[in-house]
Amino acid sequence: MDAWEALTTRASAVKLGEPAPENHALEKILSAAVRALDNGRLRPWRFLIVRGEARKILGDVLAEALKTREPGSTERRLEAERLKPLRAPMLIVVVATLRDNPKIPDIEQIVAVGAAAQNLLVATHALGFGGFWRTGESAYDPHVKQALGLRARDHIVGFLYLGTITQPGVARAPELDEVVSAWPS
Ligand SMILES: Cc1cc2nc3c(=O)[nH]c(=O)nc-3n(C[C@H](O)[C@H](O)[C@H](O)COP(=O)(O)O)c2cc1C
Repeated sequence: MDAWEALTTRASAVKLGEPAPENHALEKILSAAVRALDNGRLRPWRFLIVRGEARKILGDVLAEALKTREPGSTERRLEAERLKPLRAPMLIVVVATLRDNPKIPDIEQIVAVGAAAQNLLVATHALGFGGFWRTGESAYDPHVKQALGLRARDHIVGFLYLGTITQPGVARAPELDEVVSAWPS
C-alpha cells in the first residue's frame, strides 16, 4: 500500500482477531512510530507491548482500578473491564514520559506522542493489519499508571489495540469546508 492510500483509508477496526503483527511487521510499525515529529528530540514516547497472558494481568489491573474508583461497581461491570484487553491479540500502551524543559511545554511533548500513536496506527494499516485507539477513565487512573510502572507525571496517551481485522470500520472524514477556512475571513 502506498503512503497516500494508507493515510486516506485508515479506519478504526470494529473487531480484531489473531494474529497480531509480530517480529518484522511489529518492528516496522514501531520504527514508523518513532519517526514522529518531536520538538527538541526529547523522545517523550514509550511503548509497552502487552500480549498473550499479560493481557489478563492488565485486565485484572483495569478491574481493580475501576473497583477503587467506583466501589459500588457490579461484578458484571468489573468482568467487562477485565475482558477489555482481550479484544485484540496485542495492545500497545503508548506513554508520554514528560520532562521539565524550559523550551518545550508538556503539551508539545504530549502532541508528539499523539503523532507517534497516529504513525503507529497508519503503519499498522499499511501492513494490512488493523487497530483502534482507546482511552477512557482507566487511562487517567493513578492505579493503572502505577501498575504499568509509570510516574505520576507520565501520561497514558492511548491503549492501541492491534490485530487482524475481522470486522472492518469505515473510513470517514469531515468535509474540508467544515474545518478549513481562510484567515482573516
Ligand atoms: C486520544 C484519543 C482517544 C480515543 N479514545 C477512544 C475511546 O476511549 N473510545 C473509543 O471508542 N474511541 C476512542 N478513540 C478513537 C476514535 O473514537 C476514533 O479514532 C474516531 O471515532 C474516528 O474513527 P476512525 O479511527 O475510524 O477514523 C480515541 C481517539 C483518540 C485520538
